[in-house]
Amino acid sequence: DFFTPPTSPLHGKNILVTAGPTYEKIDPVRFIGNYSSGKMGFAIADELAARGARVHLVTGPVSIGIPAGMHEVTRVESAAQMHQACVDCYPQMNAAIMSAAVADYTPANVAEQKMKRAGDELTLTLSPTRDIAAALGQSKQAGQVLVGFALESHDALTNAHKKLANKNLDFIVLNEAGKPGVGFHGNTNKVTIIDKDNKQTDYPLKSKREVAADIVDMLERYF
Ligand code: CTP
Ligand code: CA
Repeated sequence: DFFTPPTSPLHGKNILVTAGPTYEKIDPVRFIGNYSSGKMGFAIADELAARGARVHLVTGPVSIGIPAGMHEVTRVESAAQMHQACVDCYPQMNAAIMSAAVADYTPANVAEQKMKRAGDELTLTLSPTRDIAAALGQSKQAGQVLVGFALESHDALTNAHKKLANKNLDFIVLNEAGKPGVGFHGNTNKVTIIDKDNKQTDYPLKSKREVAADIVDMLERYF
């Protein structure tokens, strides 16, 4: 965008954005992943850059193009790699927006060779991944702002409140899976933002670009 509002309080701020899915390796040719497209996170990164922020984008494997104007881009594959990239840069960040769909579990063992088809049934043992947002929440310093997402299919508000508290977030963006217009691959989203003081803002169904602007508007209030 040729028009950069000079007045944004985010101008010159270092902001981490995570986006996309993670891939958890099973063997050299297979992984466990999810349907995250990266669209929501990339729209946020784009909006932040348009307001003059220095965006560090940490992204899992996605098929869409990286937005222009990123200060730094780190491409990762697994939850463990995303964790490392985020922990490494967070001390230098003024804010972080955790929009990635990080795997909650990863194969306990990665087969060195391609697994052969054998037997009737295959059981994979999975180990929990580390919660990146919670790790940043634990190390958060005064003045740093941490924003998370919650993807919920039931008890949405209760679960979002729990995540807000457990991860030490400043605010959380709730997406309700299964609602019309809400999903990984579409271009629209409908969110509710809940902050630490339990103030709740419900937004109508909008394009992901407009939702990104709403989230960044909310972040601006913290600076
Ligand atoms: N998140 C993260 N690292 C993980 C898992 C989640 O940083 N290993 C972040 C997501 O990026 C999001 C927030 O935590 O900002 C909530 O993710 P979500 O999957 O909704 O919640 P979980 O805490 O993983 O709980 P569950 O999947 O059981 O609902
Ligand atoms: Ca999860």
